[in-house]
Amino acid sequence: MERANLEARARALIEAETEVFRARRPRSAAAHEEATSGFFDGVPQHWMLDWPTPFPLVVDQASGAELVDIDGNRIVDVCLGDTGAMFGHGPAPVLEALKNAGTRGLTTMLPSSDAAAVGRLLVERFGLPRWQLGATASDANRFAIRVARAVTGRAKLLVFDGCYHGAVDDTLVDLVDGRTVSRRNLLGQVRDLGELTVSIPFNDEAALEKALAAQDIACVLAEPVMTNCGMIPPAPGFHAALRRLTRAAGTLLLIDETHTISTGLGGYSKVHGLEPDLMVMGKPIGGGVPVSVWGMTQAISDRLHVIRREQSGHGHSGIGTTLSGSALQLACLRACLEQVMTEEAYRIMQARADRIEAGFKAAIAAAGLDWTVARVGARLEVVFSPVPVRNAAEARAAASDTIEAALHLSMLNLGYLLTPFHNMVLVSPALSEQQADGLVAAFATVTGRLAERRAAA
Ligand SMILES: Cc1ncc(COP(=O)(O)O)c(C=O)c1O
Repeated sequence: MERANLEARARALIEAETEVFRARRPRSAAAHEEATSGFFDGVPQHWMLDWPTPFPLVVDQASGAELVDIDGNRIVDVCLGDTGAMFGHGPAPVLEALKNAGTRGLTTMLPSSDAAAVGRLLVERFGLPRWQLGATASDANRFAIRVARAVTGRAKLLVFDGCYHGAVDDTLVDLVDGRTVSRRNLLGQVRDLGELTVSIPFNDEAALEKALAAQDIACVLAEPVMTNCGMIPPAPGFHAALRRLTRAAGTLLLIDETHTISTGLGGYSKVHGLEPDLMVMGKPIGGGVPVSVWGMTQAISDRLHVIRREQSGHGHSGIGTTLSGSALQLACLRACLEQVMTEEAYRIMQARADRIEAGFKAAIAAAGLDWTVARVGARLEVVFSPVPVRNAAEARAAASDTIEAALHLSMLNLGYLLTPFHNMVLVSPALSEQQADGLVAAFATVTGRLAERRAAA
């Protein structure tokens, strides 16, 4: 079906589905209205308005793979707080850890008795030998970049066009007409981010080699599969080239596994044998509690010790925040690593994701749409392109805000919450087979409506 026709159908659907959403949520509408007196834009975090709904649904309860809004609508959640709740809302071992941590003190700026076990678990699970904690993945990326600059003595950073690594100034750039420029819409950005950051297309080995040639780049910061611009898989051999070229240029490789931790136990790096110098994870690593981790090789750790000694060791390093490494974080990390983020959890997630992938592909074919389904483990993305996209330019060309909004709203009205900003389905171990099948059936209904075809049963 032609894109223009599809967009026209999508606009009509949005109109109808918006009314359905409104009619079912008088309490959410009123609660949102009430909150405008206290919050900027009526929400505690401005991007809570970036859903394709006329106002946000207000959540009463979230547990496992389900949300209930304050109007009593039950919704199967495959957004999962955009990965923060990847292992399901409120996993029992994390809730237990929270309860116990509360009685033992939440934060002391001293290690708790969980520290040794957590350190050991991080090394075993993710491979790198030395770790530190932060509160968010944004923080962890900032700290890891700082370390990369400290140990290489270089200022510049390389990222891939279309990346998102959190609220980290150095990474908030776009590649426009071959130039790296500060991302449009950044608030209060007073310096030209293109001065110290180079952005190149993902999967472009020649551009990478050229950018690294001057040997002035401290680190390449990359997601192993780009998940924030549609979903862009690495081309065969790209990771091997990335590692070879960074090593040859004396540039460190910082892998951000915050989303690709969906791949399997140990994340994409462990499953696919990458060899990062630095690694970052946040979001679901503490089962939904604000904690992030960043790890480094022994060589970086040794070099950092020398630098710290030369600088006399103490004072403000620019790394760390007061609540990082707290007893609360350690307790939740331990519970999550030991009891939630397990081989068995990933097995269930993969099995459900297999089912959903097959079902979505069949629905797309039945509707006669030229879309693909990209996937990294438990994370699936519907891409409006007949072939997998190779870089951000292709991903942007394939995207359509209108079709995306129609898909999201229609799915939500059928009881399934997709992730905003893209067409992402994340599978938690709490998602039942029945819920996965329901999701597929809803998707078949919506794609059928969009394409004006009756989907195959
Ligand atoms: C790959 C990646 N890294 C880091 C972050 C930042 O996470 P947070 O917002 O929790 O700091 C995000 C957020 O979406 C992300 O997608």
